[in-house]
Amino acid sequence: MSVSTLSARQASLYDRVKTLIPPIEWPVFADDIEAILHLKRQRDAVILAHNYMTPEIFHCVADIVGDSLALAREAMKVDAKVIVLAGVHFMAETAKMLNPSKTVLIPDSRAGCSLAESITPADVRLMRERHPGVPVVTYVNSSAAVKAESDICCTSGNALKVVESLGVDIVIMLPDEYLARNIAAQTKVKVLTWAGHCEVHERFTAAEVRALRVDYPGVTILAHPECPPEVTAEADYTGSTADMSAFVGRERPRRVVLLTECSMADNVSVGYPDIEFVRPCNLCPHMKRITLPKIRHALETMTEQVTIDPALAERARRSVERMLEVR
Ligand code: 13P
Ligand code: SF4
Repeated sequence: MSVSTLSARQASLYDRVKTLIPPIEWPVFADDIEAILHLKRQRDAVILAHNYMTPEIFHCVADIVGDSLALAREAMKVDAKVIVLAGVHFMAETAKMLNPSKTVLIPDSRAGCSLAESITPADVRLMRERHPGVPVVTYVNSSAAVKAESDICCTSGNALKVVESLGVDIVIMLPDEYLARNIAAQTKVKVLTWAGHCEVHERFTAAEVRALRVDYPGVTILAHPECPPEVTAEADYTGSTADMSAFVGRERPRRVVLLTECSMADNVSVGYPDIEFVRPCNLCPHMKRITLPKIRHALETMTEQVTIDPALAERARRSVERMLEVR
């Protein structure tokens, strides 16, 4: 394909991803992108996409992009009749519980999360029995049923604020052990943990961080708080995906590595051609289930629709809304 033969509209779409997608590969995406843009208008739909979506989704069809916190906040403001959640299942559930009257579509309902899988509502009840009166703070990477058993939710972007907002000496923080330990290191509040882990972030090691500093002198290392505490202790900065992106924009490091999912560095790098992104990264197989053809199919067929039992949704929503009230 020659870029000069593209229509003005296609050329402007391609321009957004030209540093990541070679011209010869663009035709693979172009047809689905055109169809999705048309279907969004036809269905009165918006696409909310997580920062881990591949660049052609993130830059060419998404209306709103962000971390879990931003997607939850934005889901509440959507006017359109249909929300397509380009992310994993718990994100689509959160969008649905905040918008019970809207149609929420997930392009592949098998897009799960190892953290959400690590805990059941019965486990939460057991923790409460073992620690009577201790509030349960649940990471949004959890099922609606687990959120319904919780006092308040948190994301990686607001966990410290949420824990400290409760005005207590001790909390139970579920299900991510590493997020809980990373937060515990920043507060006087005692944090009881659960042994859930993110299969993507648990693979980063402190030895890897040290090797990066030797191999790439001067590199700035940013880590997601789902990484083990030994990793975050050696990183230069720890934050949610949105926080990492903001750090890059604010600090403009010459060389940077984002210890997180692979698409993150791709998506951020587009805005900063002068910054060198070093790319050790781990793929999230769940996030990668979401593709352009599946988004197109979801809008064509209006499937798969996310449903939650209304009584359960009501209880789960309370935990999410309490979180959104913390500023
Ligand atoms: P963020 O809320 O930081 O985007 O994280 C979501 C997630 O799934 C990270 O693995
Ligand atoms: Fe879950 Fe980890 Fe994938 Fe995020 S990156 S969706 S926490 S498995």
